[in-house]
Amino acid sequence: MTRRSPLQTAVCDRLGIRYPIVLAAMGSTSRGVPTPPRLVAAVSEAGGLGMLGSAGQEPEEIRRRIAAVRRLTDRPFGVGLLLPVSRADAVSDRAAMRALLRERYPQHVAFVDDLRQRWGLPDVEASGPVLTPDLVEAQLDVVFAEHVPVLAIGLGDVRPVIERRGAVDVTVIGLVGTPRQAQALAAAGVDIIVGQGYEAGGHTGRIATFPLIPQIVDAVAPRPVLAAGGIADGRGLAAALALGAAGVWCGTAFLVAEESEIYPEQQQAILAACSDEFVVTRAYTGKTARDVKNDVIAAWEASGLEPLPMPLQWILMDDFVAAAEAAGRIELINNPAGQAGGLLRSRRPAADIVQSMVEEAQAILRRLCG
Ligand SMILES: Cc1cc2nc3c(=O)[nH]c(=O)nc-3n(C[C@H](O)[C@H](O)[C@H](O)COP(=O)(O)O)c2cc1C
Repeated sequence: MTRRSPLQTAVCDRLGIRYPIVLAAMGSTSRGVPTPPRLVAAVSEAGGLGMLGSAGQEPEEIRRRIAAVRRLTDRPFGVGLLLPVSRADAVSDRAAMRALLRERYPQHVAFVDDLRQRWGLPDVEASGPVLTPDLVEAQLDVVFAEHVPVLAIGLGDVRPVIERRGAVDVTVIGLVGTPRQAQALAAAGVDIIVGQGYEAGGHTGRIATFPLIPQIVDAVAPRPVLAAGGIADGRGLAAALALGAAGVWCGTAFLVAEESEIYPEQQQAILAACSDEFVVTRAYTGKTARDVKNDVIAAWEASGLEPLPMPLQWILMDDFVAAAEAAGRIELINNPAGQAGGLLRSRRPAADIVQSMVEEAQAILRRLCG
């Protein structure tokens, strides 16, 4: 009898993929696209699962990107969304939020004006959709109508989503940063849990990947768990399997893929930085997020001003970021990425990233298992 490869896990069976490597659903903003259809399709074609990070996107844009992925691959892929964490997190419109900021937080508004002047940036207002419950409903309509096989939910209450999916054949993945949250998702009926450790890029919690994953595995067994945060090579994949995960969910490793469409300057900054230069800050969104450190984060720290809660800080800083982008000052834009960036050496095609992770993990597992 041939032995099943340790890389063929429950997640592979559930998702119909060859290797338990998932491209994290990294949401796109106007500031570059971390997970364009080309990257999603390349990861799926390489045997992993590509995820279109679609948080905050117009529903028709999501539909267009789903079609673009399908033109490039007939393998499974998914879409990732964020839900408003609470009613208070739901932004109605940018103009109303700006008025509220000027009225209630004049010091913060003045500080950001100073920052703009310090770097000679134009007075630009960001545009684009904001995270309202109506937007999320319309996004879900597209995902279900298009029969996308996998849906990931990054933040917010998943219960209404699980109710809405009804008999639709879609695997729901949920992201968490604590064992308690993992239990809540499992109880709500989420199919696969991503445990995201403190090392991760983007919004992040406080528990590191190594202690987090075994606790989540125990908390939700027998539901499969994907490990996220700090994993960028075959050593990380093998370690995740040893911790009881059924695969990995990798963001930062794929930000430097040739197919990723973040700015080249952002890719270079990630490649050049040591792990201790990926810092946790509330400066850009109001929620703790890990970004490559820059002068804007340093200026907020030096100011002694406490960043506002999300979504106020995000609306405030989105205008600054739009101004920096208009001026071509990419180094002033937030560059969310995790400590795994310290492991990355070069831009590579996504297929190479997947293949080398697989080969390295297989070699390690052979060596360890004799
Ligand atoms: C640029 C960027 C954008 C992200 N956007 C989202 C998002 O929209 N939704 C989400 O659930 N997670 C998002 N994340 C978190 C990732 O899904 C993932 O958990 C994280 O990147 C894993 O850690 P790693 O960066 O060490 O691989 C983002 C991460 C990065 C780096």
